[in-house]
Amino acid sequence: MKEKRSQFGTKLGVIMVTAGSAVGLGNIWRFPYEVGANGGGAFVLLYLIFVFFVGLPVICGEFILGKRSRSGIRGAFEKLHKSRFWGSVGYISILAAVLIMGFYSVVASWTMEYIVQSVEGFSGLSSPEDFHNRFELLTATPVRPVVWTALFLILNYLILIRGVEKGIEKVSNLMMPLLFILLIAFGINSLLLPGAGEGLRFLFHPDFSKLTGEVVLRALGQAFFSLSLGMGCLVTYSSYFKPETPLMRTGISIAVLDTFVAVMAGVMIFPAVFTYGQEPAAGPRLVFEVLPMVFSNMPSGSIWSLVFFVLLFLAALTSIISVSEIIIAYLMDDFGMSRFKACTVHFVISLVFGVVCALSFSSLSDFKIFGFNVFDLFDYVSSNILMPLGGMLLSIFVGWVIKRSIVKEELLAGTSHSGVYRVLATVMAFCLRYVAPVAIAIVMLNCLKGI
Ligand code: TRP
Repeated sequence: MKEKRSQFGTKLGVIMVTAGSAVGLGNIWRFPYEVGANGGGAFVLLYLIFVFFVGLPVICGEFILGKRSRSGIRGAFEKLHKSRFWGSVGYISILAAVLIMGFYSVVASWTMEYIVQSVEGFSGLSSPEDFHNRFELLTATPVRPVVWTALFLILNYLILIRGVEKGIEKVSNLMMPLLFILLIAFGINSLLLPGAGEGLRFLFHPDFSKLTGEVVLRALGQAFFSLSLGMGCLVTYSSYFKPETPLMRTGISIAVLDTFVAVMAGVMIFPAVFTYGQEPAAGPRLVFEVLPMVFSNMPSGSIWSLVFFVLLFLAALTSIISVSEIIIAYLMDDFGMSRFKACTVHFVISLVFGVVCALSFSSLSDFKIFGFNVFDLFDYVSSNILMPLGGMLLSIFVGWVIKRSIVKEELLAGTSHSGVYRVLATVMAFCLRYVAPVAIAIVMLNCLKGI
């Protein structure tokens, strides 16, 4: 017999859980290096525009789909509109979730390694090459990354089997406030550094000469990734909402919190990078090579290093839980599995994909598909193809296929129905119908052109 569908307990819990999904490596690892590589302030400004005019409407679209259908991503479309086509669209998201599980758990596992290294201290390392070699040494050997990845996935499994309210919600209620405290402490420390002014200027001063088509696309892609959109993550979570959970207010809270963390990550990182004369455009290596070097020069650096990597670890864990839940909800909804069985099957699948990704820098480094190793391939296919495709189909579905009265009703549920909310609901519905599908289509076409 199917288990009764779980529900989140409190409104605050809903915000912690959904913000936990959104706030992740995307904010603290990816956002700063994208800002660094794409010219600073102008990128940040564009990013903000996309978060509020495309991201927020799509968040609401995902919420409407999940809350109304009370189903995971595969069954959600089908429940609201019976057709073979819409019944299969969710498979795109499930595939994306499996691939993301692979590479995300590997990056997350590096944070665990760096927590240990912070405790041991970075003594004996001084030049950029030393830090580069240290990172290479970690990724290019097979055993350590595999062990860390497995440990991370076991931890994820232990939280997930406890269920939606007692596992996911409880852990998020605990970890998210801790994450905010660490973030603010670190931000204050960075603002006291001598290079703070230069770092902040880099982050906030828009230099529009840096804006190119490519930068615009990257800003939209970053907004999608950071807000956990296009993969049915928020659809799955909102299928556990209570009828009175207010969708727009929750959506606005996620967008604001997620943006706050991303900007704070910039405030933490750039003053430190400039103070110690490092390169802000270092790309994905920024967090794992440049920052440890910065920490090793900072007074009480090993403590700040520990704070930073614990922060990154917490952020990654609450996000991976949400990606896992997409697959678990699918297994429970479509195959009638118990939660325990679904979590166990998911654990085995993600372990296989995680280990293959972890080995793609060592034993499997010669195994290339279209010139990508497995890690990069999973990242590329899920972030640039499956997620935008899933997001576009979802906004077309909510914007055009399901009744407008349902969209309005869900958007206004749990609110006072006052004028402000009505105007906001109209703006959301308009953006879902027109702005989001067109914006996503442009991003996708451009990505495909680049192959
Ligand atoms: N948003 C998360 C981050 O910023 C990553 C993430 C979690 C995600 N769930 C997702 C990305 C679903 C896309 C889709 O790190």
